[in-house]
Amino acid sequence: MDHYCVFGNPIAHSKSPDIHAAFAAQTGQQLTYEKRLAPLDGFAAAVHAFIAEGGKGANVTVPFKLEAYRLANALTVRAQAAGAVNTLLFDAHGITGDNTDGAGLVADITANAGVPIVGKRVLLLGAGGAARGAVLPILEHRPAALVIANRTVAAAQQLVQQFAALGGAGIVSACGFAEITGSFDIVINATSASLQADLPPVPPTVFQPGTLALDMMYGKEPTVFMRFALEHGATARDGLGMLVEQAAEAFHGWRGVRPDTAPVLANLR
Ligand code: ATR
Repeated sequence: MDHYCVFGNPIAHSKSPDIHAAFAAQTGQQLTYEKRLAPLDGFAAAVHAFIAEGGKGANVTVPFKLEAYRLANALTVRAQAAGAVNTLLFDAHGITGDNTDGAGLVADITANAGVPIVGKRVLLLGAGGAARGAVLPILEHRPAALVIANRTVAAAQQLVQQFAALGGAGIVSACGFAEITGSFDIVINATSASLQADLPPVPPTVFQPGTLALDMMYGKEPTVFMRFALEHGATARDGLGMLVEQAAEAFHGWRGVRPDTAPVLANLR
């Protein structure tokens, strides 16, 4: 039996054990997956203890994604681009760090919401860790434009510079919220504003009928951003689909089998 876990602090709320248990049952994989509360100053020790117990891999959530990035001795291209790690693989090569968040986001938009990204105008709100992880997977789907808007414009400009050489030249641009012009096919809220029930000051003109507005956050009720988007004619989606898809991508990396996410997502809803 192979063992996996998710490290976070706090971790009690995590849905990952339920998601991975469902994937394992569905694909007939023999494994365990548990929640592990790592002390704020003891993430690396917690990982090494799990490896010593025979752990094969782990997910990493708030606030350890940057530390996981530094801990890994090998990184996938998408983890390097994201500058953060949410998935660890332990084998003879040591600790490999991956980032499946952006791939999960893109899978939720294209497969679950049924909205292709190719040729579309995409607006990404935020320029922190969550936004950075989304850029490369979005660019791989060749949007017509990807505008990154952030409260601190310099952080968005830095992302444009970083991704210019990775397929973003002429496609990615940066601005402040007040300078956003035109409407978009897809608007993604990657700011942490929803955590404080706050709304990034995005002009309502970014939405047009048919716009997909996606908040990376989720909760029992629609977020402020989702309600704002709905009021202005968009279709709104929370981050639950992204959560299930990033888990599926991690499961695929560990087990080599791709689970069917639809029944798992339907069950969570
Ligand atoms: P995460 O890992 O969730 O992305 P982060 O790296 O701390 O967390 O980034 C938080 C992002 O949310 C940033 O883009 C931040 O904007 P700044 O770069 O200007 O700080 C954005 N953010 C947080 N609270 C916000 C708010 N109330 N309104 C708008 N943007 C907000």
